[in-house]
Amino acid sequence: MTSLRVLTGITTSGTPHLGNYVGAIRPAVRASLVPGSESFYFLADYHALIKIDEPARIQQSTLEIAATWLAAGLDPERVTFYRQSDIPEIPELTWLLTCVTAKGMLNRAHAYKASVDKNTAADVDPDADISAGLFMYPVLMAADILMFNAHKVPVGRDQIQHIEMARDIGQRFNHLYGEHFVLPEAAIEESVATLPGLDGRKMSKSYDNTIPLFAPREQLRKLIAGIVTDSRAPGEPKDTEGSALFQLYQAFATAEETEALRAAYAKGIAWGDAKQMLFERVDQEIAPMRATYQALIDNPGKIEDILLAGATKARKLATPFTADLRRAVGLRDLRSQAKNKAAKVAKTALPSFKQYREADGRFRFKLVDAQGRLLLQSAGFASPKDAGQAIAQLQRDGAAALLALQPQLENVEAVGPDEVIAALEQLAAASA
Ligand code: TRP
Repeated sequence: MTSLRVLTGITTSGTPHLGNYVGAIRPAVRASLVPGSESFYFLADYHALIKIDEPARIQQSTLEIAATWLAAGLDPERVTFYRQSDIPEIPELTWLLTCVTAKGMLNRAHAYKASVDKNTAADVDPDADISAGLFMYPVLMAADILMFNAHKVPVGRDQIQHIEMARDIGQRFNHLYGEHFVLPEAAIEESVATLPGLDGRKMSKSYDNTIPLFAPREQLRKLIAGIVTDSRAPGEPKDTEGSALFQLYQAFATAEETEALRAAYAKGIAWGDAKQMLFERVDQEIAPMRATYQALIDNPGKIEDILLAGATKARKLATPFTADLRRAVGLRDLRSQAKNKAAKVAKTALPSFKQYREADGRFRFKLVDAQGRLLLQSAGFASPKDAGQAIAQLQRDGAAALLALQPQLENVEAVGPDEVIAALEQLAAASA
């Protein structure tokens, strides 16, 4: 039985901040500890190249993000933790997927469209300063996901469109070349808070309002002291509603601690004292990780080894899977041709019945012609045996069975009963 596969990527384009920790890292590390699921976490450094053309920054961010996830408790023995660029099968799959991706779909990708709209508004060439990498971003991301047949992909809301595109691309490939890919779903954590930053807006690098996760203790104190508050004096009751300070506290504190701060707000706690409480509470959770983080940053060789071991683990899946995919699209050993041809003629010259089970748990079958075209489809049967009996009846009695079973059958559009009867007769003749 395959367990639920969860996969997510982290673009190596910055230094992790408290918002990343609360919104992504902490829930992911917790989820990775739940039994019955298999997690894949990777550093999306190929994606980072789309945004950043400073090599040293890519390297530094990769180091910091890897150290952060490890310090936050990700266990590389338990999960598959790797760096995207250590898996050469990813760009290879990207190409196979590129060839089945509709350009029109990529034209509609939010990030690309936003850049085009910005250029248009500025009255410059619509594609000014837009790389083909930005355009292809969704296909690379689809390769990340489809390569490991992930069922669930935890991402922020801004990434939902990308997951839908991955489904679309996977579906198209499956349709053309057979069922190879699991179609992924986005997993949006509703209960996870979006943290406000220093200025009260969402904590984000693009607003320059972040608190680095592993800022040294004194810097953390200073940054927290700089969080915006209103001008109410000590002794005046304060609103928890809309208070960035309160929201940040809540993201780290227990329910009781949060209630205590709420009461203190009502009683008019001084902002300076509230900030001191927040600082101590955040530091209490971060301090032990900060030490691990620093030790890792000081020993990049250890991180490198962990990532390479993760890549070996990931490639145990990616290498054979890519070989299957190459074969599926026709990138094949030439010596296999003769055999293939013979097998194909024997197998595909006849129409055939295919049995399957739907999401509703019922058993169905279809009749397809030698070219795979759908001729007939059944309604749902309670058991595979019932479906099998109906097939046997059709094979034995042909047109008569078609009539008898009519209520349970659907003649598929465009295909007349004559064609179905001819296919059944062909089958009967072949087995006689
Ligand atoms: N695009 C994602 C982001 O910016 C990062 C990413 C790359 C990713 N590949 C992925 C996320 C595959 C999930 C799955 O957040």
